[in-house]
Amino acid sequence: MNLAELISDRLTVAASRLSAEPGDLASQVRQAQDPKFGDYQINCAMSLGKRLGRPPREVAAELVAALDLGDCCEPPEIAGPGFINLRFRQEWLAARLAEAVADERLGIALAARPRTYVVDYSAPNVAKPMHVGHIRSTVIGDALVRTLRFLGHRVISDNHLGDWGTQFGMILYGYRNFLDAPAYQARPVDELSRLYRLVSRLVDYHERRAARSELVAKVTRAAAELAGAERAAQAAAADPKQTKAAGKQLAKAQAGLREAEAALAETDDKLAAIDHDSQLAALAREHAEIGAAVLRETALLHAGDPERRRLWSEFLPKCLVDLDVIYRRLGVTFDYTLGESFYHDRLAGVVAELERLGLARASEGAVCVFVEGYDAPMIIQKQDGAFLYATTDLATLQYRLETWRPDAILYVVDHRQSLHFEQLFATARRWGMQDVELVHVSFGTILGKDGRPYRTRAGDTVGLAWLLDEAVEAARDVVGSGEGGRELAPADRERVAEVVGIAALKYADLSQNRTSDYVFDREKMVSLDGNTATYMQYAYARVQSIFARGQVDADALRRGDAKIVLDAPAERQLALAVLRFAEALALAMSDYRPSQLTAYLWELANCYSAFFEACPVLKAETPELRTSRLLLCDLTARTLCTGLALLGIEVVERM
Ligand code: ARG
Repeated sequence: MNLAELISDRLTVAASRLSAEPGDLASQVRQAQDPKFGDYQINCAMSLGKRLGRPPREVAAELVAALDLGDCCEPPEIAGPGFINLRFRQEWLAARLAEAVADERLGIALAARPRTYVVDYSAPNVAKPMHVGHIRSTVIGDALVRTLRFLGHRVISDNHLGDWGTQFGMILYGYRNFLDAPAYQARPVDELSRLYRLVSRLVDYHERRAARSELVAKVTRAAAELAGAERAAQAAAADPKQTKAAGKQLAKAQAGLREAEAALAETDDKLAAIDHDSQLAALAREHAEIGAAVLRETALLHAGDPERRRLWSEFLPKCLVDLDVIYRRLGVTFDYTLGESFYHDRLAGVVAELERLGLARASEGAVCVFVEGYDAPMIIQKQDGAFLYATTDLATLQYRLETWRPDAILYVVDHRQSLHFEQLFATARRWGMQDVELVHVSFGTILGKDGRPYRTRAGDTVGLAWLLDEAVEAARDVVGSGEGGRELAPADRERVAEVVGIAALKYADLSQNRTSDYVFDREKMVSLDGNTATYMQYAYARVQSIFARGQVDADALRRGDAKIVLDAPAERQLALAVLRFAEALALAMSDYRPSQLTAYLWELANCYSAFFEACPVLKAETPELRTSRLLLCDLTARTLCTGLALLGIEVVERM
């Protein structure tokens, strides 16, 4: 049962007598800040009063008179300027808890109007090692899939693999020119990624060589601008009205020069790294036209050249095996893995249709969709005939609508692709796709402690496998320190460390507001006192150990007809927290933010701690109280376990 929704539904009825358009009342129902004032608070009398030109307390009184909450609440109280404070009746709360005890779903209702969702997530670019950026998409997407499904929606999860891009052109070129055959025999994926890295470095080298003179020119221009700004600043020094503007201009010019110099320095570093390595330098000389050659390889692959297609079909399954190792460790599965290659045959048709409809037109040799409000168009076919990322996404959209008729499509993708999705969605609307909700569930970057995108000490982007190992290693240090953990056998310890480590990594990610960047902190992630999976798992294991110590049969307890008593304040707070699960799920899904769910679990675990401090369980004063508290413990554990499961996180009985 969703408590906040129950109140706002009744409030809507009550308010309709006062105003023809009661507005958004749901957002005016809040959990009370302080239990002194009750459980929930209705805050709309102030805004309603303003709109009606009447004193808010009078409006509040009228609302209270009309409010039909007698079955579940004590008589409401009006406080301050017109807050309405609500307190649930003890027996009513106990009855809701009894329902939750008896229900496998903990009293969480299925959606009244189930929707069909397509969730597009993970989507790494095959043959490049999966990096930390992909963990966010994978973990957030997985949590959304699980939660929406739990709420009764139809969910199609689709891993839109990047299996058709220029990286294959690089690998094909590398394979034909630089292959170490025995290495490929022994560890094919390692060899393919070596080839990828080698070719992309060489391509990058030549691109930087070609672009260097422009960078030098930029530095010269920036230096000239700075000199000008310095002169202007000197001239303005006499006039206080002008000094501020001139100072700003000067700072801007200084920053501009720093930026230009940094760009040039980066290029020079990269160039030097190749030039100073005689082997690489020789390769770079021999393969001067590598950039164009790679594009040709990609084009041949796309055009259906038998040799390239054969190689692609040989590489792809090998790469997928590697990805699967990661997915298995993360416990993530997909209904479909329809990569970009799957849509290849539709691309020409999509371009033709958009041209026919007048949505796309030729511009400077390319075919473009011009989207209102954006300077740059969305290019869907290049001058050389190649299709682009956007073309594939349009074709994918068309396929998904035809095949699954979804109500919503969620794209769980890095915030750097925001512009792409804005233009994609705008084009889709003009293409007649009106009835589907299209959402870019964007997320920020994972940063290192230095505040820059997370990298290894050697400066490489961090591979996902490495990150998982790090998390498990950090977990090893805390496993065994918890209650009952000391008796773990070494093999169990290893299994538990894997569960705890992966959980910590996922939770650290999910508990961040997804749109912000966050700092990856190995130690904090497995901290036993903080908003971490480890803490939640520990709270869960603590309940299990109470049941074990008291030799309590949880199933029998649930089947019995014992009542839950809520006399102590900590008991009542815990009960309310348990019953707020439905509300937390609704909130989390209203904006596709798993962090709302982790925030809830954190609050629940804290209420449990407070309860545990204040209320003896096995040593409760009476047998009835003991049973009642055991039931509360059990409900807490089940809610934690279910909530974590919706985030793709497992619990352990002992740790
Ligand atoms: N492969 C892309 C990348 O790694 C993400 C694809 C996201 N999904 C989509 N339909 N565009 O950047």
